[in-house]
Amino acid sequence: MLYKQKKALFANATGRVLDVGSGVGPTFKYLVDEASQEDNNNNSANRVTSVVSIEPNPFMQEELKRAAAAVKDKYDVTIIQKTIGQAIKDGDIENGTFDTVICNLVLCSIPEPEKILNEIQQLLKPGGKFLFIEHVVSKTGWSAFQSAINPLWNYIGDGCSLIRHTDETVANMSGWSSANITEIPRKKYIELRHVNGICIKE
Ligand SMILES: C[S@@+](CC[C@H](N)C(=O)[O-])C[C@H]1O[C@@H](n2cnc3c(N)ncnc32)[C@H](O)[C@@H]1O
Repeated sequence: MLYKQKKALFANATGRVLDVGSGVGPTFKYLVDEASQEDNNNNSANRVTSVVSIEPNPFMQEELKRAAAAVKDKYDVTIIQKTIGQAIKDGDIENGTFDTVICNLVLCSIPEPEKILNEIQQLLKPGGKFLFIEHVVSKTGWSAFQSAINPLWNYIGDGCSLIRHTDETVANMSGWSSANITEIPRKKYIELRHVNGICIKE
């Protein structure tokens, strides 16, 4: 799902990358896309050099390790089996050390997304990139339906919320020198708004 949009978005990843909430590692394959990994001068500044993968769910670890092994010729992946908050608290990841932070359909599930977004910004180096693709609450009457079913959705979807305003939350943060957030055109039969964004830290 959203393959084309993810391919284009994650082609912007460079350097040391943090993948927040990796799941079983579907993001890794986008970071070895030839278009993003090569330039005419073979300039290493335009390549992903390493990935730190944060994923707390124990049931995803085996498949996540396999996904990491599949890209080991391109870059190293370090897997941390913790929440992002815990990894920060424990000093596993430090402020100002990442060139790129990625959230691929994750901010719908993370508790206290505003707090985590501020922490994500701090993890970036100045000039670093925050790349995200997320589903957000509808702008039509569907939002009432989404609100109504959200408790059940949250329960069966492992904490996933249908009613977050992630696009607005990110856009309203200070500390970006630019925030380019766009809505992804929807398939007619699915009323689930998706947005993606590239934000550059000041
Ligand atoms: C919908 S899945 C997306 C996984 C993957 N990024 C993908 O695109 O398939 C959300 C992921 O976020 C993880 N997650 C939930 N809370 C988290 C937290 N506080 N810190 C890091 N990851 C978290 C979940 O375990 C889950 O794997």
